[in-house]
Parts: sequence; C-alpha cells; structure tokens
Amino acid sequence: MTDTIVVVIGAGVSGLTSALLLSKRKGYKITVVAKHMPGDYHGEYASPFAGANIVPLANDAGKRWESETWHELKRLAEDVPEAGIHFQSFPVHAFSNIPWYRDLFKDYRDLPQSEVLDGYDSASEYTGVCINTAVYLPWLVGQLLKNGVVIKRSIIKDIKEARALSHTGQPASVIVNATGLGSLKLGGVRDSALYPIRGQTALVRNESTPMVLCSGSTDGPGEELYIMQRAGGGGTVLGGTYDVGNWDTEADPNVASRIMSRVVKVRPEIASGNGIAGLSVIRHAVGLRPARKGGVRLEKETLDGSTTIVHNYGHGGYGFQSSYGYAAGVVELVSEVRKQQKGAVPKL
Ligand SMILES: Cc1cc2nc3c(=O)[nH]c(=O)nc-3n(C[C@H](O)[C@H](O)[C@H](O)COP(=O)(O)OP(=O)(O)OC[C@H]3O[C@@H](n4cnc5c(N)ncnc54)[C@H](O)[C@@H]3O)c2cc1C
Ligand SMILES: *[C@@H]1O[C@H](CO)[C@@H](O)[C@H](O)[C@H]1NC(C)=O
Ligand SMILES: *[C@@H]1O[C@H](CO)[C@@H](O)[C@H](O)[C@H]1NC(C)=O
Repeated sequence: MTDTIVVVIGAGVSGLTSALLLSKRKGYKITVVAKHMPGDYHGEYASPFAGANIVPLANDAGKRWESETWHELKRLAEDVPEAGIHFQSFPVHAFSNIPWYRDLFKDYRDLPQSEVLDGYDSASEYTGVCINTAVYLPWLVGQLLKNGVVIKRSIIKDIKEARALSHTGQPASVIVNATGLGSLKLGGVRDSALYPIRGQTALVRNESTPMVLCSGSTDGPGEELYIMQRAGGGGTVLGGTYDVGNWDTEADPNVASRIMSRVVKVRPEIASGNGIAGLSVIRHAVGLRPARKGGVRLEKETLDGSTTIVHNYGHGGYGFQSSYGYAAGVVELVSEVRKQQKGAVPKL
C-alpha cells in the first residue's frame, strides 16, 4: 500500500496532537500547516493561553475523550518531565456539580461543607495535572519533527488549497481541519456554529499551591477564579474570565484588577498579604476559546472523489483535557479513509 498523504491545518493542541498520533502509525506522510505556531501569542490562537488543567466537563456519553486523555497526561506527568506537565492537587469549588469523573482520579474526594469557599455550594479535591503550555506545545512540535512530520507556515483561505501543501509535492488525500475558531471566518463553507468564549488571565511570577478552581465567581457572570502553578518556572496563571461571544483580544485593566483581587482574597500569602501590589506580573493575556454549538466537530467529509477532510475543531474550554481522545478519533477516521481510498491517487 502506498503512503497516504495527509495535510493537517492548525498547530494548536488539536492539530499537533492529531498529527502526533498519526505520525506513530505506519503509512502516512504528514505536513502540518498553520498561521500561528507554538511561540506565537495572538488571541485567536487559543492554545498558548490555557492554564491548562483537567476538570472534566463532558456528560456521561462523551466521557471517552477526557478519560482517554487523562491516562496519557498522567503518563507524561510521571515519565516525561520535558513535556512540562506536573501533578497538582486541585480543589474545585462549584455551584452544583456531581461529576462522573469521581472514579477517574484515584484520590478524588468530596470536601466537607466547612471547606467550601464562601458563595459556593460544593467542593471536591483530587490530584490532576497542570500543563505549562509554553513548554508542552513546543515539546509536541519536537515529537513531530522526530517522527518525520514537516511543519510549515501558511494562511489558508480555502480548504482546497491545503491539497497542494504537502511537503512531498504530492496532492493530499486527507486534510485534517483543526483550525479552531479559524473555521468560522474562513472563506468557503463557514461554520456559523462557532463562537468565541473570551478568557483573560494574569501570569505572575509568584507561586502558590495547591491550585484553586471556582466555577463562576461572586463578581458576576463570566468572571471566574482560578490559580494554576505551571511546571518548570512557568509562573502561576491567575484567572479569569469566561465571556461568551466577546471577540476582544486586548486585556482589560479593570478585569485584570478584579481577577487579581479575587485571587489575593482567597490566597493572601501569594502576595505576602500586600494585596495586588504584592504580585509580580509577567503579562496580562487574552485567548478566545473556540466554542461550538453542538460541541466538537469530529467527522469526515468528502471534498471530492479523491480528497477527504477530517474535522476536529470547536473544543471550547476543554481542548487540552480532551486532546488525546479526539486525536485518537481523528486517527480512526483517517484510517477508514485510507482503507477506502487504497490505491486511489488524487490529482491536483
Ligand atoms: C484563558 C483560557 C484558559 C483555558 N484553560 C483550559 C484548561 O484549563 N484546560 C483545557 O483543556 N483547555 C483550556 N482552554 C481551552 C483550550 O485552550 C482550547 O480548547 C484549545 O487550545 C483549542 O485548541 P485548537 O488546536 O483546537 O485551536 P487553536 O489553539 O486556536 O489553534 C488553531 C490553529 O489553527 C490555525 N489556523 C486557523 N485558521 C487558519 C487558516 N485559515 N490558515 C492556517 N491556519 C489557521 C491557527 O493559526 C492555529 O495554529 C483555555 C482557553 C483559554 C483561552
Ligand atoms: C474547516 O471546516 C469548516 C466547516 O466545514 C470550513 O468552513 C472551513 O473552511 C474549514 N477550514 C479549513 C482551514 O479548511
Ligand atoms: C512575588 O514575586 C516577586 C518576583 O519574583 C518577588 O519579588 C516577590 O517577593 C514575590 N512575592 C511573594 C509573596 O512571593
């Protein structure tokens, strides 16, 4: 069987993980093409801005994606320090929440009412991970290069262009669309189910464990409270906002001071009791979570007789914690295409 030529569009966690799992299989020649790459910071490129931690959000029917991902992230935290992922114990304060993932984490426990922060209904605690995206995304790139994947910059206006972007010079028979929010604005068939959920954070040098996560906050809708200390000198991410439909990629100073005030209120020691002034800020940042009505689009679509598109986008606020699950889904779809196409050589 000849090699299947694959072009992956997108170098966020979804595209890179899809390419990584494909590159571990025999029979594929893979090119990753993207406008933004690890190292870039732009609000429309969500991945660098994630905390990132693991608080499963799927319902029972969708738990495959997050549970498969957890097992791989746990392995990386245990055995692969250079991936920039470490374990963090993690109290989660919520308004109401009875998670299915009780059984996923070995040390999961519900916290007694006396430990629930003011203003919240319930709390639980378990050891999850925090991913330092500034180390982890470049690590993914390194794994791809090691496996022979070629990575290139390009801004794609129409999906058809991707057919001609394989480094082999041969036309692609599979295109993986992992463009996140990009799939809304692109020419051609625009996916109007996509929308942004703006997330503003402050990255500080000061350290504080354990992490904290509160769904919503008493400062009103869209305002959250979280503290995530990243591995390897990555600083601590203070969050944040969850602002549905907001496209603004500039950090808002009023929001920044509300975020930091909420943090120093629950964790005064992070700033030696000196309030916001005790924090050393690296940067204020904004990322747009690529959300989609109806959830992630993981499916294949025929572009024409010889090229198939496999879509994997719309991961909202859970792209890291579901990354390996969805990437495994991409591999399944791409292998189906490979079997169907056997022998068929696409024309440019
Ligand atoms: C503040 C914040 C906190 C978050 N916290 C968490 C967390 O704790 N846990 C978690 O799991 N998730 C978290 N998320 C969500 C997570 O960041 C996203 O779900 C994830 O990054 C989506 O990845 P992606 O690869 O699908 O998209 P993106 O990272 O946005 O990547 C899209 C890629 O497609 C490329 N692209 C788009 N259009 C084109 C085009 N026309 N031509 C060429 N290339 C194109 C871009 O350049 C980019 O390379 C958070 C997000 C934010 C903003
Ligand atoms: C991704 O898929 C969407 C929906 O079909 C489409 O509108 C968009 O053009 C695709 N993006 C790319 C880069 O191929
Ligand atoms: C916060 O970080 C800065 C810079 O590293 C440091 O000078 C300051 O003492 C830290 N404050 C606390 C409470 O750790």
